[in-house]
Amino acid sequence: MENRSQWGTRLGFLLAAVGSAIGLGNIWRFPATAFENGGGAFFIPYLFALLTAGIPLLIMEYTIGHKYRSSSPRSFSKISKGMEWIGWWQVLISFVISTYYPIIIAWAMMYAYFSLGTKWGDDPTAFFTGDFLNLADPGTFGSIVPNVMIPLLVVWVLVLFILGRGVKKGIEIANRIFIPTLFIVFLIIVIRAVTLPGAMEGLDAFFKPDWNKIADGSVWVAAYGQIFFSLSIAFAIMITYSSYLPKKSDITNNAFITGFANSSFELLAGIGVFAVLGFMAVQSGTGVAEVVEGGVGLAFMVFPEIISQMPAASFFGFLFFASLFLAGLSSMVSISETYIAGVQEKFSISRGKAVLFGGGLSLIASLFYATQGGLNLLDTVDYFINNYGVALAGLFEVVAIAWFARSLQDLQSHADAVSDIKLGIWWRICLGIITPIVLGYMMLQNLKTDLT
Ligand code: PHE
Ligand code: NA
Repeated sequence: MENRSQWGTRLGFLLAAVGSAIGLGNIWRFPATAFENGGGAFFIPYLFALLTAGIPLLIMEYTIGHKYRSSSPRSFSKISKGMEWIGWWQVLISFVISTYYPIIIAWAMMYAYFSLGTKWGDDPTAFFTGDFLNLADPGTFGSIVPNVMIPLLVVWVLVLFILGRGVKKGIEIANRIFIPTLFIVFLIIVIRAVTLPGAMEGLDAFFKPDWNKIADGSVWVAAYGQIFFSLSIAFAIMITYSSYLPKKSDITNNAFITGFANSSFELLAGIGVFAVLGFMAVQSGTGVAEVVEGGVGLAFMVFPEIISQMPAASFFGFLFFASLFLAGLSSMVSISETYIAGVQEKFSISRGKAVLFGGGLSLIASLFYATQGGLNLLDTVDYFINNYGVALAGLFEVVAIAWFARSLQDLQSHADAVSDIKLGIWWRICLGIITPIVLGYMMLQNLKTDLT
């Protein structure tokens, strides 16, 4: 394609890639995962996973996108005709995520508003599950929850607007605004958090290493799982984003920057979250371990409770939920771009049509989660997508590239031609051997726990 869209600047690409990587996974997944898997000792498997799988795979995906200058399905089909389906599998996973991710962004948006005046009252858990979502009512798939439906549509308007404006004028500009804002806002929160009474107890609990855990296979699985999810690998995202890179772009360097920026943010989030949990533990006279939580529970039940006890509650509550909102929105844009690019190329249609068709389809599917029945299913869908969908996508991808197409050498030459850092045999070993073994082991472990 001659006039394929391109990023305006290298920084634009990096901000978009980092924007995709930094998401709910950094803020509410990493802190609890690290704590449960050895605390300070978790950093060893974590760094190992980053260096042996995260960054090598990121380099591979950037190289594929840069070399074939196509969406994920077409890039795979250019490597080998029979591999197009791997790209579509990744796109499908992203599509499914894009049907429920905006729900969480919509909640964050509503909670930023609720923060002003701490509208969740004295019992934030009852407020979230009762007043706000009415989860106790099993309901049906037709029973719409207006508290979710309306903000959801607002989020969609924003997402489709950004995507409709295209790569440079839409995605790049949005990330140029979102990501620096996110960093500043988050830094303010973390500084506030570490100066709260009890913060040090929280940090002690977070960093205290449990060295016995290092010998535990499940800790290593958790580390690799966190890295894959956190770097948005095997979702077709990084291939799509790097396909918009100008010809002269330092691929390897960009991958290292993305990887380290994402991990730095993750560490920052861990410090912030545990400082706040330490504050809570001290306030309520319990230990930190008793109050640790991740995910939806942390953000929408535990945090509101803690925020209410903080000085300037409205202000810090607003900043926290605004961060969740920005981090989520930039990730949402990246997931949706995968199928928009895929559909646009497959059917040779304009970007506008692809946004309306692909985004519209996902929007309609997302309405399902704005009903009682859908809300109650959200966790299950998320679980299967993350534990099987993504792990399989990653496994298909590395095995296909390394063993069937045998294109690692070829990709390496491509990356080396444009990058300052040259790849060596270690890169091919990480992708050809370490990553497939880890992903295969991960799948088996997940199957084992689910079947027993
Ligand atoms: N990488 C994001 C995070 O850490 C999650 C994500 C997954 C974003 C899939 C987009 C697609 O939260
Ligand atoms: Na991340």
